[in-house]
Amino acid sequence: MSQPIEAVSEVFNTILVLDFGSQYSHLIIRRLREFNVYAEMLPCTQKISELPFKPVGVILSGGPFSVYEEGSPHVDHDVFKLNVPILGICYGMQELAWINGKGVGRGEKREYGPATLTVEDQTCPLFEGVDHSQVWMSHHDKLQSLPTGFKTVATSGNSPFAGIANFENTIFGIQFHPEVTHSAQGKTLLKNFAVKICKAAQNWTMSNFIETEITRIRQLVGPTAEVIGAVSGGVDSTVGAKLMKEAIGDRFHAIYVDNGVMRLNETENVKKTLDEGLGINLTVINAEDEFLDKLKGVTDPEKKRKIIGNTFIHIFERVANEIKPKDGSEIEFLLQGTLYPDVIESISFKGPSQTIKTHHNVGGLLDNMKLKLIEPLRELFKDEVRNLGQLLGIPEDLVWRHPFPGPGIAIRVLGEVTKAQVKIAREADFIFIEEIKKAGLYREISQAFACLLPVKSVGVQGDQRTYEQVIALRAIETVDFMTADWYVFDAKFLKNVASRIVNEVDGVARVTYDITSKPPATVEWE
Ligand code: XMP
Repeated sequence: MSQPIEAVSEVFNTILVLDFGSQYSHLIIRRLREFNVYAEMLPCTQKISELPFKPVGVILSGGPFSVYEEGSPHVDHDVFKLNVPILGICYGMQELAWINGKGVGRGEKREYGPATLTVEDQTCPLFEGVDHSQVWMSHHDKLQSLPTGFKTVATSGNSPFAGIANFENTIFGIQFHPEVTHSAQGKTLLKNFAVKICKAAQNWTMSNFIETEITRIRQLVGPTAEVIGAVSGGVDSTVGAKLMKEAIGDRFHAIYVDNGVMRLNETENVKKTLDEGLGINLTVINAEDEFLDKLKGVTDPEKKRKIIGNTFIHIFERVANEIKPKDGSEIEFLLQGTLYPDVIESISFKGPSQTIKTHHNVGGLLDNMKLKLIEPLRELFKDEVRNLGQLLGIPEDLVWRHPFPGPGIAIRVLGEVTKAQVKIAREADFIFIEEIKKAGLYREISQAFACLLPVKSVGVQGDQRTYEQVIALRAIETVDFMTADWYVFDAKFLKNVASRIVNEVDGVARVTYDITSKPPATVEWE
Protein backbone atom coordinates (compact mmCIF):
# COMPACT_ATOMS: atom_id res chain seq x y z
CA MET A 1 0.00 0.00 0.00
CA SER A 2 1.34 3.43 -0.84
CA GLN A 3 1.96 5.91 1.93
CA PRO A 4 -0.23 9.06 2.08
CA ILE A 5 1.47 12.13 0.60
CA GLU A 6 2.18 14.66 3.28
CA ALA A 7 1.96 18.36 2.53
CA VAL A 8 4.69 20.62 3.88
CA SER A 9 2.19 21.99 6.40
CA GLU A 10 1.80 18.50 7.84
CA VAL A 11 5.50 17.77 8.12
CA PHE A 12 6.54 21.05 9.75
CA ASN A 13 4.72 22.51 12.78
CA THR A 14 2.61 25.19 11.16
CA ILE A 15 1.30 28.50 12.42
CA LEU A 16 -1.87 29.36 10.54
CA VAL A 17 -2.38 33.01 9.63
CA LEU A 18 -6.01 33.81 8.85
CA ASP A 19 -6.00 36.83 6.58
CA PHE A 20 -8.57 39.61 7.05
CA GLY A 21 -7.14 41.60 4.16
CA SER A 22 -4.39 43.68 5.79
CA GLN A 23 -1.63 44.90 3.49
CA TYR A 24 0.78 43.48 6.07
CA SER A 25 -0.58 39.90 6.36
CA HIS A 26 2.13 38.32 4.24
CA LEU A 27 4.75 39.96 6.47
CA ILE A 28 3.54 37.88 9.42
CA ILE A 29 4.46 34.75 7.46
CA ARG A 30 7.80 36.28 6.46
CA ARG A 31 8.75 37.17 10.04
CA LEU A 32 7.84 33.73 11.39
CA ARG A 33 9.88 31.99 8.73
CA GLU A 34 12.86 34.25 9.52
CA PHE A 35 13.25 32.32 12.77
CA ASN A 36 12.58 28.99 11.04
CA VAL A 37 8.97 28.51 12.03
CA TYR A 38 6.77 27.39 9.16
CA ALA A 39 3.65 29.49 8.57
CA GLU A 40 0.91 29.48 5.99
CA MET A 41 -1.86 31.90 5.19
CA LEU A 42 -5.49 31.15 4.46
CA PRO A 43 -8.38 33.58 3.99
CA CYS A 44 -10.37 34.51 7.13
CA THR A 45 -13.38 32.79 5.60
CA GLN A 46 -11.68 29.39 5.91
CA LYS A 47 -13.99 26.79 7.49
CA ILE A 48 -12.02 25.30 10.36
CA SER A 49 -13.50 21.81 9.85
CA GLU A 50 -12.05 21.89 6.33
CA LEU A 51 -8.54 22.98 7.31
CA PRO A 52 -6.00 21.04 5.24
CA PHE A 53 -3.67 20.68 8.26
CA LYS A 54 -3.70 20.96 12.05
CA PRO A 55 -1.88 24.15 13.07
CA VAL A 56 0.04 24.54 16.34
CA GLY A 57 -1.18 28.13 16.66
CA VAL A 58 -3.40 30.64 14.88
CA ILE A 59 -2.85 34.33 14.13
CA LEU A 60 -5.76 36.52 13.10
CA SER A 61 -4.37 39.30 10.91
CA GLY A 62 -5.31 42.95 10.65
CA GLY A 63 -7.78 44.14 8.06
CA PRO A 64 -9.42 47.27 6.64
CA PHE A 65 -12.93 46.53 7.97
CA SER A 66 -14.90 47.36 11.14
CA VAL A 67 -15.99 44.32 13.13
CA TYR A 68 -19.30 45.97 14.11
CA GLU A 69 -20.38 46.74 10.56
CA GLU A 70 -22.77 44.48 8.74
CA GLY A 71 -21.08 42.30 6.20
CA SER A 72 -17.66 42.50 7.88
CA PRO A 73 -15.65 39.29 7.80
CA HIS A 74 -15.67 37.08 10.89
CA VAL A 75 -13.66 34.07 11.87
CA ASP A 76 -15.26 30.62 12.06
CA HIS A 77 -15.86 30.15 15.82
CA ASP A 78 -14.62 26.58 15.53
CA VAL A 79 -11.15 28.14 15.63
CA PHE A 80 -11.49 28.06 19.43
CA LYS A 81 -12.17 24.31 19.30
CA LEU A 82 -8.71 23.73 17.83
CA ASN A 83 -7.41 24.27 21.38
CA VAL A 84 -4.25 25.97 20.17
CA PRO A 85 -2.95 29.42 21.16
CA ILE A 86 -4.46 32.34 19.24
CA LEU A 87 -3.04 35.81 18.62
CA GLY A 88 -5.21 38.60 17.19
CA ILE A 89 -3.42 41.52 15.54
CA CYS A 90 -5.30 44.85 15.15
CA TYR A 91 -8.57 43.83 13.41
CA GLY A 92 -7.80 40.31 14.64
CA MET A 93 -7.78 41.57 18.24
CA GLN A 94 -10.96 43.57 17.66
CA GLU A 95 -12.54 40.40 16.31
CA LEU A 96 -11.59 38.55 19.51
CA ALA A 97 -13.09 41.42 21.55
CA TRP A 98 -16.24 41.45 19.41
CA ILE A 99 -16.77 37.75 19.96
CA ASN A 100 -16.20 38.15 23.72
CA GLY A 101 -18.41 41.12 24.63
CA LYS A 102 -18.72 43.37 21.56
CA GLY A 103 -16.70 46.20 23.18
CA VAL A 104 -15.35 47.68 19.94
CA GLY A 105 -16.08 51.11 18.45
CA ARG A 106 -14.69 54.00 16.48
CA GLY A 107 -11.79 55.80 18.20
CA GLU A 108 -11.91 59.61 18.34
CA LYS A 109 -9.04 59.84 15.95
CA ARG A 110 -7.15 57.56 13.71
CA GLU A 111 -3.87 56.32 15.14
CA TYR A 112 -1.22 55.79 12.51
CA GLY A 113 2.49 55.60 13.17
CA PRO A 114 4.82 54.90 16.06
CA ALA A 115 3.76 54.54 19.70
CA THR A 116 5.63 53.49 22.81
CA LEU A 117 4.50 50.30 24.43
CA THR A 118 4.43 49.75 28.18
CA VAL A 119 4.09 46.20 29.41
CA GLU A 120 1.77 46.16 32.43
CA ASP A 121 2.08 42.46 33.22
CA GLN A 122 5.68 41.32 33.20
CA THR A 123 4.64 37.69 33.54
CA CYS A 124 2.92 37.64 30.14
CA PRO A 125 5.04 35.34 27.96
CA LEU A 126 4.05 37.21 24.79
CA PHE A 127 5.91 40.33 25.92
CA GLU A 128 9.10 38.77 27.22
CA GLY A 129 11.91 41.15 26.19
CA VAL A 130 9.53 43.66 24.59
CA ASP A 131 8.94 46.34 27.26
CA HIS A 132 9.11 50.07 26.39
CA SER A 133 9.74 49.47 22.75
CA GLN A 134 8.41 51.33 19.77
CA VAL A 135 5.45 49.71 18.06
CA TRP A 136 3.62 50.56 14.86
CA MET A 137 -0.07 51.47 15.05
CA SER A 138 -2.48 51.65 12.13
CA HIS A 139 -6.13 51.73 13.27
CA HIS A 140 -9.22 53.87 13.73
CA ASP A 141 -11.42 51.39 15.60
CA LYS A 142 -10.38 50.48 19.10
CA LEU A 143 -11.38 48.38 22.09
CA GLN A 144 -13.75 50.29 24.34
CA SER A 145 -13.87 47.71 27.11
CA LEU A 146 -11.98 44.63 28.09
CA PRO A 147 -13.48 41.48 26.58
CA THR A 148 -14.82 38.83 28.95
CA GLY A 149 -12.08 36.57 30.27
CA PHE A 150 -9.22 38.92 29.26
CA LYS A 151 -6.92 41.23 31.20
CA THR A 152 -4.82 44.14 30.02
CA VAL A 153 -1.16 43.22 29.64
CA ALA A 154 0.18 46.22 27.71
CA THR A 155 -0.75 49.85 27.09
CA SER A 156 0.42 52.71 24.92
CA GLY A 157 -0.24 56.47 25.09
CA ASN A 158 -3.37 56.23 22.97
CA SER A 159 -4.34 52.62 23.51
CA PRO A 160 -5.26 51.53 27.04
CA PHE A 161 -5.75 48.04 25.54
CA ALA A 162 -2.60 47.77 23.42
CA GLY A 163 -2.17 44.18 24.59
CA ILE A 164 -4.74 41.84 26.16
CA ALA A 165 -4.55 38.22 27.28
CA ASN A 166 -6.83 35.40 28.26
CA PHE A 167 -4.28 33.23 30.05
CA GLU A 168 -6.71 30.40 30.72
CA ASN A 169 -7.36 29.77 27.05
CA THR A 170 -4.00 31.07 25.76
CA ILE A 171 -5.56 33.78 23.61
CA PHE A 172 -3.82 37.12 23.08
CA GLY A 173 -4.63 40.34 21.28
CA ILE A 174 -2.46 43.30 20.28
CA GLN A 175 -3.54 46.57 18.75
CA PHE A 176 -0.23 47.22 16.97
CA HIS A 177 1.48 45.47 14.08
CA PRO A 178 4.48 43.38 15.21
CA GLU A 179 5.07 42.18 11.64
CA VAL A 180 6.28 45.54 10.29
CA THR A 181 9.90 46.44 10.86
CA HIS A 182 8.89 49.76 12.48
CA SER A 183 7.79 47.71 15.51
CA ALA A 184 11.25 47.40 17.02
CA GLN A 185 10.67 44.22 19.03
CA GLY A 186 7.89 42.88 16.81
CA LYS A 187 9.87 39.86 15.74
CA THR A 188 10.67 38.98 19.37
CA LEU A 189 6.97 39.14 20.16
CA LEU A 190 6.05 36.87 17.23
CA LYS A 191 8.82 34.50 18.25
CA ASN A 192 7.50 34.46 21.82
CA PHE A 193 4.09 33.54 20.46
CA ALA A 194 5.23 30.88 17.99
CA VAL A 195 8.12 29.26 19.86
CA LYS A 196 7.42 29.84 23.56
CA ILE A 197 3.63 29.77 23.55
CA CYS A 198 2.72 27.53 20.59
CA LYS A 199 5.87 25.41 21.02
CA ALA A 200 6.43 25.39 17.26
CA ALA A 201 9.62 23.60 16.25
CA GLN A 202 12.17 25.86 14.55
CA ASN A 203 12.91 23.32 11.84
CA TRP A 204 11.86 25.23 8.73
CA THR A 205 15.18 25.24 6.87
CA MET A 206 15.82 24.66 3.21
CA SER A 207 17.92 21.58 3.92
CA ASN A 208 14.95 20.03 5.75
CA PHE A 209 12.69 21.20 2.93
CA ILE A 210 14.79 19.46 0.25
CA GLU A 211 14.41 16.15 2.01
CA THR A 212 10.67 16.52 2.57
CA GLU A 213 10.01 17.80 -0.92
CA ILE A 214 12.00 15.09 -2.69
CA THR A 215 10.08 12.43 -0.77
CA ARG A 216 6.81 14.17 -1.60
CA ILE A 217 7.66 14.45 -5.33
CA ARG A 218 8.61 10.76 -5.46
CA GLN A 219 5.36 9.75 -3.81
CA LEU A 220 3.30 12.01 -6.03
CA VAL A 221 4.92 10.98 -9.31
CA GLY A 222 5.23 7.30 -8.46
CA PRO A 223 7.86 4.88 -9.74
CA THR A 224 7.30 5.21 -13.50
CA ALA A 225 5.47 8.42 -14.46
CA GLU A 226 7.29 11.21 -16.30
CA VAL A 227 7.24 14.98 -15.83
CA ILE A 228 7.95 17.88 -18.20
CA GLY A 229 8.64 21.50 -17.43
CA ALA A 230 9.77 24.64 -19.15
CA VAL A 231 13.07 26.20 -18.13
CA SER A 232 14.02 29.77 -18.91
CA GLY A 233 17.50 30.20 -17.50
CA GLY A 234 16.06 32.02 -14.49
CA VAL A 235 16.45 30.98 -10.88
CA ASP A 236 12.93 29.63 -10.22
CA SER A 237 12.70 27.29 -13.18
CA THR A 238 16.29 26.08 -12.66
CA VAL A 239 15.72 25.35 -8.97
CA GLY A 240 12.46 23.56 -9.78
CA ALA A 241 14.17 21.51 -12.50
CA LYS A 242 17.10 20.57 -10.28
CA LEU A 243 14.76 19.49 -7.51
CA MET A 244 12.89 17.28 -10.00
CA LYS A 245 16.19 15.87 -11.24
CA GLU A 246 17.17 14.98 -7.66
CA ALA A 247 13.79 13.34 -7.08
CA ILE A 248 13.17 11.40 -10.30
CA GLY A 249 16.34 11.69 -12.42
CA ASP A 250 15.84 11.55 -16.18
CA ARG A 251 12.11 11.02 -15.87
CA PHE A 252 12.03 14.81 -15.66
CA HIS A 253 12.27 16.48 -19.08
CA ALA A 254 13.21 20.14 -19.18
CA ILE A 255 12.31 22.09 -22.29
CA TYR A 256 14.00 25.36 -23.19
CA VAL A 257 12.50 27.33 -26.05
CA ASP A 258 14.76 29.90 -27.66
CA ASN A 259 12.23 32.53 -28.69
CA GLY A 260 14.79 34.88 -30.25
CA VAL A 261 14.25 37.53 -27.59
CA MET A 262 16.36 36.07 -24.79
CA ARG A 263 19.53 37.71 -23.48
CA LEU A 264 22.88 37.49 -25.31
CA ASN A 265 24.33 33.94 -25.39
CA GLU A 266 21.42 32.68 -23.29
CA THR A 267 20.85 29.41 -25.11
CA GLU A 268 24.51 28.40 -24.83
CA ASN A 269 24.51 29.37 -21.16
CA VAL A 270 21.38 27.36 -20.41
CA LYS A 271 22.84 24.30 -22.15
CA LYS A 272 26.09 24.69 -20.25
CA THR A 273 24.50 25.16 -16.84
CA LEU A 274 21.50 22.88 -16.91
CA ASP A 275 22.59 20.08 -19.18
CA GLU A 276 26.36 19.90 -18.68
CA GLY A 277 26.54 21.39 -15.19
CA LEU A 278 23.46 20.15 -13.38
CA GLY A 279 22.84 17.01 -15.43
CA ILE A 280 19.24 17.91 -16.19
CA ASN A 281 17.61 16.07 -19.09
CA LEU A 282 17.23 19.07 -21.42
CA THR A 283 15.64 19.60 -24.82
CA VAL A 284 16.53 22.88 -26.54
CA ILE A 285 14.22 24.17 -29.25
CA ASN A 286 15.36 26.92 -31.56
CA ALA A 287 12.20 28.81 -32.48
CA GLU A 288 13.64 32.25 -33.12
CA ASP A 289 12.24 32.53 -36.65
CA GLU A 290 8.78 31.34 -35.63
CA PHE A 291 8.54 33.99 -32.90
CA LEU A 292 10.03 36.83 -34.93
CA ASP A 293 7.76 36.01 -37.88
CA LYS A 294 4.71 36.30 -35.66
CA LEU A 295 6.01 39.56 -34.18
CA LYS A 296 6.51 41.18 -37.59
CA GLY A 297 4.84 44.61 -37.75
CA VAL A 298 3.55 44.40 -34.15
CA THR A 299 4.22 47.43 -31.95
CA ASP A 300 1.56 47.16 -29.25
CA PRO A 301 3.14 45.78 -26.03
CA GLU A 302 0.12 43.74 -24.98
CA LYS A 303 -0.09 42.19 -28.44
CA LYS A 304 3.59 41.30 -28.21
CA ARG A 305 2.98 39.64 -24.85
CA LYS A 306 0.03 37.64 -26.20
CA ILE A 307 1.87 36.51 -29.32
CA ILE A 308 4.89 35.38 -27.33
CA GLY A 309 2.74 33.61 -24.72
CA ASN A 310 0.60 31.81 -27.28
CA THR A 311 3.49 30.84 -29.52
CA PHE A 312 5.32 29.49 -26.51
CA ILE A 313 2.35 27.34 -25.47
CA HIS A 314 1.94 26.06 -29.01
CA ILE A 315 5.60 25.03 -29.31
CA PHE A 316 5.78 23.62 -25.80
CA GLU A 317 2.77 21.39 -26.43
CA ARG A 318 4.20 20.19 -29.70
CA VAL A 319 7.52 19.28 -28.10
CA ALA A 320 5.84 17.71 -25.08
CA ASN A 321 3.93 15.42 -27.42
CA GLU A 322 7.13 14.41 -29.11
CA ILE A 323 8.82 13.42 -25.88
CA LYS A 324 7.52 9.93 -25.34
CA PRO A 325 8.44 7.98 -22.24
CA LYS A 326 10.37 4.81 -23.08
CA ASP A 327 7.49 2.49 -22.20
CA GLY A 328 5.18 4.28 -24.64
CA SER A 329 3.02 5.80 -21.91
CA GLU A 330 2.10 9.48 -21.73
CA ILE A 331 3.76 12.26 -19.80
CA GLU A 332 1.61 12.72 -16.70
CA PHE A 333 2.83 15.86 -14.94
CA LEU A 334 3.75 19.43 -15.70
CA LEU A 335 6.24 21.22 -13.46
CA GLN A 336 5.35 24.79 -12.67
CA GLY A 337 7.53 27.24 -10.76
CA THR A 338 4.75 28.91 -8.76
CA LEU A 339 6.12 30.74 -5.71
CA TYR A 340 4.38 31.55 -2.43
CA PRO A 341 3.73 35.25 -3.27
CA ASP A 342 1.61 34.02 -6.23
CA VAL A 343 -0.29 31.74 -3.87
CA ILE A 344 -0.74 34.55 -1.32
CA GLU A 345 -1.99 36.85 -4.07
CA SER A 346 -4.61 34.30 -5.07
CA ILE A 347 -5.83 33.44 -1.56
CA SER A 348 -5.57 36.76 0.27
CA PHE A 349 -8.86 38.18 1.46
CA LYS A 350 -10.04 40.96 -0.86
CA GLY A 351 -13.39 41.77 0.76
CA PRO A 352 -16.61 40.12 1.89
CA SER A 353 -18.29 40.46 -1.49
CA GLN A 354 -15.40 39.22 -3.55
CA THR A 355 -15.00 35.57 -4.27
CA ILE A 356 -11.51 34.27 -3.75
CA LYS A 357 -9.96 33.78 -7.15
CA THR A 358 -8.14 30.55 -7.67
CA HIS A 359 -4.52 30.62 -8.65
CA HIS A 360 -4.02 30.80 -12.37
CA ASN A 361 -1.35 28.65 -13.87
CA VAL A 362 1.18 30.77 -15.68
CA GLY A 363 0.77 30.94 -19.42
CA GLY A 364 -2.37 28.81 -19.49
CA LEU A 365 -0.52 25.63 -20.36
CA LEU A 366 -2.78 23.35 -18.41
CA ASP A 367 -5.92 24.55 -20.16
CA ASN A 368 -5.07 22.50 -23.22
CA MET A 369 -2.94 19.74 -21.82
CA LYS A 370 -4.23 16.82 -19.86
CA LEU A 371 -1.44 17.07 -17.34
CA LYS A 372 -1.42 17.15 -13.59
CA LEU A 373 0.36 20.07 -12.03
CA ILE A 374 3.40 19.72 -9.80
CA GLU A 375 4.54 22.87 -7.98
CA PRO A 376 7.48 22.11 -5.68
CA LEU A 377 8.21 25.77 -4.90
CA ARG A 378 4.68 26.89 -4.08
CA GLU A 379 5.43 27.21 -0.35
CA LEU A 380 8.59 29.29 -0.87
CA PHE A 381 9.45 32.98 -0.98
CA LYS A 382 12.08 34.13 -3.47
CA ASP A 383 14.90 34.29 -0.91
CA GLU A 384 14.05 30.75 0.18
CA VAL A 385 14.23 29.63 -3.46
CA ARG A 386 17.69 31.22 -3.74
CA ASN A 387 18.79 29.54 -0.54
CA LEU A 388 17.48 26.23 -1.85
CA GLY A 389 19.27 26.80 -5.17
CA GLN A 390 22.57 27.23 -3.35
CA LEU A 391 22.03 24.00 -1.43
CA LEU A 392 21.24 22.20 -4.69
CA GLY A 393 24.58 23.30 -6.15
CA ILE A 394 23.24 25.80 -8.66
CA PRO A 395 25.96 28.31 -9.63
CA GLU A 396 26.01 31.52 -7.58
CA ASP A 397 25.58 33.68 -10.69
CA LEU A 398 22.33 32.00 -11.58
CA VAL A 399 20.99 31.89 -8.03
CA TRP A 400 21.27 35.67 -7.77
CA ARG A 401 20.15 36.45 -11.30
CA HIS A 402 17.81 39.42 -11.79
CA PRO A 403 14.28 38.59 -12.95
CA PHE A 404 13.66 38.62 -16.67
CA PRO A 405 10.19 39.04 -18.18
CA GLY A 406 8.59 36.19 -20.14
CA PRO A 407 8.28 38.34 -23.30
CA GLY A 408 11.98 39.13 -22.91
CA ILE A 409 13.69 41.69 -25.05
CA ALA A 410 10.54 42.02 -27.17
CA ILE A 411 9.19 44.46 -24.57
CA ARG A 412 12.58 46.18 -24.33
CA VAL A 413 12.70 46.93 -28.03
CA LEU A 414 10.10 49.66 -28.22
CA GLY A 415 8.19 49.47 -31.47
CA GLU A 416 8.64 46.66 -33.97
CA VAL A 417 10.79 43.70 -32.93
CA THR A 418 13.27 42.63 -35.60
CA LYS A 419 16.43 40.56 -35.44
CA ALA A 420 18.53 43.70 -35.97
CA GLN A 421 16.76 45.62 -33.21
CA VAL A 422 17.03 42.70 -30.78
CA LYS A 423 20.75 42.50 -31.52
CA ILE A 424 21.28 46.15 -30.54
CA ALA A 425 19.23 45.88 -27.32
CA ARG A 426 20.93 42.61 -26.41
CA GLU A 427 24.47 43.90 -26.86
CA ALA A 428 23.80 47.12 -24.95
CA ASP A 429 22.19 45.10 -22.14
CA PHE A 430 25.16 42.75 -21.99
CA ILE A 431 27.63 45.63 -21.57
CA PHE A 432 25.49 47.29 -18.89
CA ILE A 433 25.17 44.08 -16.85
CA GLU A 434 28.84 43.23 -17.34
CA GLU A 435 29.85 46.63 -15.92
CA ILE A 436 27.39 46.31 -13.03
CA LYS A 437 28.93 42.96 -12.13
CA LYS A 438 32.45 44.30 -12.51
CA ALA A 439 31.61 47.14 -10.12
CA GLY A 440 30.25 44.60 -7.59
CA LEU A 441 26.77 46.16 -7.69
CA TYR A 442 24.74 43.30 -9.16
CA ARG A 443 23.34 41.99 -5.86
CA GLU A 444 22.52 45.50 -4.61
CA ILE A 445 20.40 46.19 -7.68
CA SER A 446 17.09 44.33 -7.98
CA GLN A 447 16.84 44.52 -11.76
CA ALA A 448 18.79 46.23 -14.50
CA PHE A 449 18.50 46.20 -18.27
CA ALA A 450 18.78 48.21 -21.47
CA CYS A 451 15.88 49.33 -23.66
CA LEU A 452 16.09 50.32 -27.29
CA LEU A 453 14.01 53.40 -28.04
CA PRO A 454 12.30 53.83 -31.42
CA VAL A 455 13.76 57.29 -32.03
CA LYS A 456 16.79 58.44 -33.93
CA SER A 457 19.16 61.06 -32.74
CA VAL A 458 22.09 62.91 -34.26
CA GLY A 459 25.58 62.07 -33.14
CA VAL A 460 29.14 62.55 -34.20
CA GLN A 461 31.60 59.69 -34.25
CA GLY A 462 35.09 60.29 -35.57
CA ASP A 463 34.66 62.87 -38.31
CA GLN A 464 31.26 61.55 -39.24
CA ARG A 465 27.83 62.76 -38.40
CA THR A 466 25.60 59.85 -37.37
CA TYR A 467 21.85 59.53 -37.09
CA GLU A 468 21.10 56.48 -34.98
CA GLN A 469 19.04 55.10 -32.14
CA VAL A 470 18.92 55.71 -28.39
CA ILE A 471 19.47 53.25 -25.57
CA ALA A 472 17.76 53.84 -22.22
CA LEU A 473 19.31 52.14 -19.21
CA ARG A 474 17.13 51.18 -16.26
CA ALA A 475 18.26 49.93 -12.84
CA ILE A 476 16.00 49.68 -9.83
CA GLU A 477 15.99 48.77 -6.17
CA THR A 478 12.87 47.17 -4.80
CA VAL A 479 11.63 44.66 -2.24
CA ASP A 480 8.52 43.41 -4.01
CA PHE A 481 8.54 44.98 -7.51
CA MET A 482 5.24 46.69 -6.69
CA THR A 483 7.10 49.90 -5.92
CA ALA A 484 10.67 50.65 -6.95
CA ASP A 485 13.32 53.35 -6.76
CA TRP A 486 15.83 54.00 -9.49
CA TYR A 487 19.36 53.09 -8.51
CA VAL A 488 21.78 55.95 -7.89
CA PHE A 489 24.97 55.14 -9.78
CA ASP A 490 28.19 56.96 -9.51
CA ALA A 491 28.48 59.39 -12.48
CA LYS A 492 31.79 57.81 -13.49
CA PHE A 493 30.13 54.43 -13.78
CA LEU A 494 27.41 55.76 -16.10
CA LYS A 495 29.95 57.65 -18.16
CA ASN A 496 31.93 54.47 -18.75
CA VAL A 497 28.85 52.37 -19.64
CA ALA A 498 27.59 55.03 -22.07
CA SER A 499 30.97 55.28 -23.72
CA ARG A 500 31.26 51.50 -24.10
CA ILE A 501 27.76 51.19 -25.57
CA VAL A 502 28.16 53.89 -28.25
CA ASN A 503 31.59 52.63 -29.14
CA GLU A 504 30.87 48.90 -29.16
CA VAL A 505 27.27 48.60 -30.31
CA ASP A 506 26.53 49.45 -33.91
CA GLY A 507 23.41 51.54 -34.37
CA VAL A 508 23.47 53.51 -31.10
CA ALA A 509 24.15 57.25 -31.04
CA ARG A 510 23.09 58.13 -27.53
CA VAL A 511 22.60 56.59 -24.08
CA THR A 512 20.18 57.86 -21.42
CA TYR A 513 19.52 56.77 -17.85
CA ASP A 514 15.94 56.37 -16.61
CA ILE A 515 15.42 58.26 -13.32
CA THR A 516 11.75 57.51 -12.75
CA SER A 517 10.42 55.60 -9.76
CA LYS A 518 7.58 53.10 -9.78
CA PRO A 519 4.98 54.50 -9.45
CA PRO A 520 4.38 56.56 -11.52
CA ALA A 521 6.47 54.58 -14.05
CA THR A 522 6.61 50.79 -14.26
CA VAL A 523 9.83 48.80 -14.20
CA GLU A 524 9.63 47.81 -17.86
CA TRP A 525 9.13 50.44 -20.56
CA GLU A 526 6.36 48.48 -22.28
P1 XMP B 1 6.46 46.27 -14.22
O1 XMP B 1 6.95 46.70 -15.55
O2 XMP B 1 5.06 45.73 -14.24
O3 XMP B 1 7.42 45.06 -13.79
O4 XMP B 1 6.62 47.33 -13.16
C1 XMP B 1 7.42 44.42 -12.55
C2 XMP B 1 8.22 43.13 -12.70
O5 XMP B 1 7.52 42.25 -13.58
C3 XMP B 1 8.31 41.95 -14.72
N1 XMP B 1 7.42 41.91 -15.89
C4 XMP B 1 7.02 40.78 -16.50
N2 XMP B 1 7.32 39.49 -16.25
N3 XMP B 1 5.96 38.84 -18.06
C5 XMP B 1 6.80 38.52 -17.03
O6 XMP B 1 7.08 37.34 -16.86
C6 XMP B 1 5.60 40.10 -18.38
O7 XMP B 1 4.85 40.35 -19.30
C7 XMP B 1 6.17 41.13 -17.55
N4 XMP B 1 6.06 42.48 -17.54
C8 XMP B 1 6.84 42.93 -16.52
C9 XMP B 1 9.35 43.05 -14.79
O8 XMP B 1 10.51 42.62 -15.48
C10 XMP B 1 9.58 43.34 -13.32
O9 XMP B 1 10.47 42.39 -12.75
